[in-house]
Amino acid sequence: MSGAGRRVTVVEVGPRDGLQNETVEVASDAKVAFIEALAAAGLPVVEATAFVSPKAIPQLADGDEVFRRIRKLPGVRYPVLVPNEKGMDRAEAAGVREIAVFTAASETFNRKNINASIDESFARFAPVVARATRGGMRVRGYVSCGFGCPYEGPVTPAAVARVAVRLLEAGCREISLGDTIGVGHPAQVRALVRAIAGEVSLDRVALHLHDTYGRAVANVWAGYEAGVRTFDASLGGLGGCPYAPGASGNVATEDVVDLFERAGVRTGVDLVALVRATAWLEDEVLKRRLPGRVFRARKGQA
Ligand code: HMG
Ligand code: MG
Repeated sequence: MSGAGRRVTVVEVGPRDGLQNETVEVASDAKVAFIEALAAAGLPVVEATAFVSPKAIPQLADGDEVFRRIRKLPGVRYPVLVPNEKGMDRAEAAGVREIAVFTAASETFNRKNINASIDESFARFAPVVARATRGGMRVRGYVSCGFGCPYEGPVTPAAVARVAVRLLEAGCREISLGDTIGVGHPAQVRALVRAIAGEVSLDRVALHLHDTYGRAVANVWAGYEAGVRTFDASLGGLGGCPYAPGASGNVATEDVVDLFERAGVRTGVDLVALVRATAWLEDEVLKRRLPGRVFRARKGQA
């Protein structure tokens, strides 16, 4: 299939999904520099941090300071994950212009992740979404465990579609379907996108694919062929959720950009600048985490 004249949006989630799961301590200065480097490389959306409970995610406890200190580039969006009204208070105080709320297609995962059932999660973020939209903020809604749950096993496309539709009805502008534990495969991506497309316009759908079994790039392409045009990714494949045991990182941003650009699908991202940022990430995070191991980013690919 020719990709000529086509475009996709790559949403960088490394500073949030990546750093929330990091085992080494990353200084606030480094987080700010990381976010600024990603935006400078041309990523149009950089999910900057999460205003969740610091007890749940101590790695992002400095999110308020980090968000305030980012030198924001015009035209770049910097959403922040918000679980409840307390998080929304922090978002408003920090000057956030865009938020993401999150729930799951699995009851057990939701309970472990946010201590709420699916219904309770909607009740909890309804006032958050209402405040955000009143204030002119754009809201994204995540559906975790869209392809399988670490506790409940298989998840049906119908269950995912139900939650996705509810999120849109609740006021979300976009929904991001998460393969939280990376069990999805291309045929499943096609089936899920088909099921969702029956309910929701695909220009409001993103895919958020983790790479546990090395299938995330294939899944991105399957999603593209099925009509999705927004893909979450994380520089260097950082990422994971502390409440999704065994899951690995997100699909690597440099791999997604390289895939699309080689296929003639424009991302607007400068791969050379991105690869430079992976070198920074290697020094700042990965070498400290895995001493002596070679970082997986393909530095020669640019
Ligand atoms: P809870 O314990 O049920 O709530 O947590 P609570 O209201 O009873 O609060 C407990 C304590 O946290 C209290 O402090 C609150 O003040 C404080 P204490 O009185 O004990 O000192 N607190 C907060 N502090 C700061 N900011 C806040 C906040 N809220 C409460 N916003 C809660 C419920 C949802 C808060 C908690 O479970 C939580 O924060 N969970 C977040 C977990 C998380 O961030 N997981 C990873 C993100 S989701 C993900 O990775 C999946 C995704 O990438 C897509 C995919 O891959 O599928 C999006
Ligand atoms: Mg994730």
